[in-house]
Amino acid sequence: MAKIFITRNIPESGIKMLKDKGYELTINEKDRVLSRSEIIKSIKGKNYDAVLCLLTDKIDQEILDIASPSVKIFANYAVGTDNIDLKYAASKNILISNTPDVLTNSVAEHTFTLILSISKRIVEADDFMRTGKYKGWEPKLLLGSDIYGKTLGIVGLGRIGARVAHFAINGFGMRVLYYDPKRNENFEKDQPGTTYTSNIDDVLKNCDYVSIHVPLLPTTKHLINEEKLKLMKPTAYLINTSRGPILDEIALSNALKNNIIKGAGLDVFEFEPKLYSGLRKLKNLIVTPHTASATIETREKMSQMCADNIISVLEGKTPPNLVKI
Ligand code: GLV
Ligand code: GLV
Repeated sequence: MAKIFITRNIPESGIKMLKDKGYELTINEKDRVLSRSEIIKSIKGKNYDAVLCLLTDKIDQEILDIASPSVKIFANYAVGTDNIDLKYAASKNILISNTPDVLTNSVAEHTFTLILSISKRIVEADDFMRTGKYKGWEPKLLLGSDIYGKTLGIVGLGRIGARVAHFAINGFGMRVLYYDPKRNENFEKDQPGTTYTSNIDDVLKNCDYVSIHVPLLPTTKHLINEEKLKLMKPTAYLINTSRGPILDEIALSNALKNNIIKGAGLDVFEFEPKLYSGLRKLKNLIVTPHTASATIETREKMSQMCADNIISVLEGKTPPNLVKI
């Protein structure tokens, strides 16, 4: 009987699919992320056939060596796979799968939630009410920014970036200017109001909102740094729901403090799970704890997708969401 290690309890539907196949499951029952040494201890000498892991588990060479040769797949409970040494996994014939598509809407919705909340100063307004500061209607109370008719910059027009662009154009009458190493002419035809640029600086200079949707790679670390932030309009907002290290947070905190840009909304953090101290007190920033895909529906679908990928591999088939390097 195949044996599977699951590094943290996840929503039930995928677990049930694996149980129904008769596999023997070992689930980390601690209500927290396992440390590196706990992961090593959990899989060493256990001959698991598959591991279901999280984006917070760093699957590096040492762990892949320990998992090999019995473990045939690491099914990552995330769309991003920057936590896994993909090249080394391939060299050991270990397959990697992820959870694309099922979280696209949820993350795009969360991106828009951040755009709306920072523009309309929702968090400040909520605090203002609860702390009894509201003494009556005022013409200049908590003035924010309009969204309709503005230009949204998308850095990375993958699945999520494209969905955010779709919401912007169809829901909010925005124009979209996108940068991506690869132009997507079909998307432009489908969505009039979309313009491409091969120069990321154009996006930063010309947009009222800039939203980041690229994967974390050596080439995208600090893609948005002090110099790039200085290109943005002082009235512009920056949104990041991709990966923290893409944005230089020290530079961002200076830009927010010195009104180089107007505001920012972050769901991911350079020093995650820590919030960089320079950001903590800033009123023109809103933050959420990496919850962009955290809806009940989406997290169940991610669970099923991980199970599907594991089942495929254990039945000798190619996993539907194989990550190719
Ligand atoms: C979340 O960040 C994911 O990559 O799924
Ligand atoms: C991730 O799912 C992306 O392609 O944006």
